[in-house]
Amino acid sequence: MIDFDQVQRYTIFQIPPVHIYEYKGHIDSLYNYVMNLEYREKTDNATSKRLDILEHKELFDLKRFCSECVQHYSFEVCGSKNPIDIQQSWSNLANMNDGHRQHYHSNSYLSGVFYLRNDKTPIIFHMDGLIEKNFFSVLPEIAPDVQIEIEQGRKYLPSRSDTMAVPAQTGTLLVFSSRSSHSVPPNATNNPRLSIAFNTFPKLPFGNYESLHHIK
Ligand SMILES: [Fe+2]
Repeated sequence: MIDFDQVQRYTIFQIPPVHIYEYKGHIDSLYNYVMNLEYREKTDNATSKRLDILEHKELFDLKRFCSECVQHYSFEVCGSKNPIDIQQSWSNLANMNDGHRQHYHSNSYLSGVFYLRNDKTPIIFHMDGLIEKNFFSVLPEIAPDVQIEIEQGRKYLPSRSDTMAVPAQTGTLLVFSSRSSHSVPPNATNNPRLSIAFNTFPKLPFGNYESLHHIK
């Protein structure tokens, strides 16, 4: 008999994970402040006209929280203690039917999204072509019992998925590699969805001089 419960599995490579950090401060005052900023309508969701909102004194504590979380991610995932600076920061306002098409964040190291108000809509991460890269052939059928578990949301097969829905709940910060492509489904409710997004870059100088990847 083979004991399949004892099978060893190595994660041989890893797509950069998404970290979710919970903010313990008060959300309502932040929500009111950000909601009352001026917004620019776009083809996707509206964005704040100001693109430096984490520099506003009203968001001082939130910026410190975001900075510490980014630093934690950089150390845990990338093994670096190099200081990371928050660069641009803006808010996203999605009213009914507003979503955000697939994109990634250019000229940024790590990105973050902090949710001031959200329904149950997740953020979707994409890795196009992942399945084709991993397997010579993709079997069309999924065993019926596995299919049922997938439909019921209990089972996820990362080896044959190129999208992943990550929960995006009010009061949480998601930190991820800026190169991780992501999208946000349309808001299906009457309740506006409001978030703050930001980009980062390592504080200069960084890299190793002798290894020829020093940036000053
Ligand atoms: Fe984004």
